[in-house]
Amino acid sequence: MLKEQCPILQFADLGDERGKLVVIEGGSSIPFDIRRVFYIYGSDDTVVRGCHANRESEFVLINVAGESKVRIKDGAEEIVVELNKPMMGVYLPRMIWKEMYDFSPDSVLLVLASTHYDSEEYIRDFEVYLSEINAGGSRKE
Ligand code: TYD
Repeated sequence: MLKEQCPILQFADLGDERGKLVVIEGGSSIPFDIRRVFYIYGSDDTVVRGCHANRESEFVLINVAGESKVRIKDGAEEIVVELNKPMMGVYLPRMIWKEMYDFSPDSVLLVLASTHYDSEEYIRDFEVYLSEINAGGSRKE
């Protein structure tokens, strides 16, 4: 089940009268050690980003400001997760297809990754993704 493979993560909100503070610790609040952080902003509701799967990387996606959606596929099932709170994220394991879209103008989508960037581990063709999944894939739990 995709919802079980890609759980929604809730982070502790340590806010007080001075404002909000959300803490994310690699290996505890998220199930991997963080090797890379990037963020996407300046996208809007006309673009679709992502459209790839990763043979090695695991990710957590968090909209630290604004909102976006991520469509998640595994070749059999499809779900949409709405990212609209700074204290929630979605975990994406290896070999999951993702498409991010419907960005609000103020969207800042923070991505935590388990690996350093390597373009070779990206699958950017959905047919190739399906064939790798159907061949037993390199899906590692
Ligand atoms: P891309 O994977 O197309 O972004 P998205 O998944 O949001 O659609 O990445 C855009 C460009 O940035 C592409 O040339 C690869 C480069 N890039 C890096 O160099 N390092 C990274 O960690 C990431 C995520 C992308």
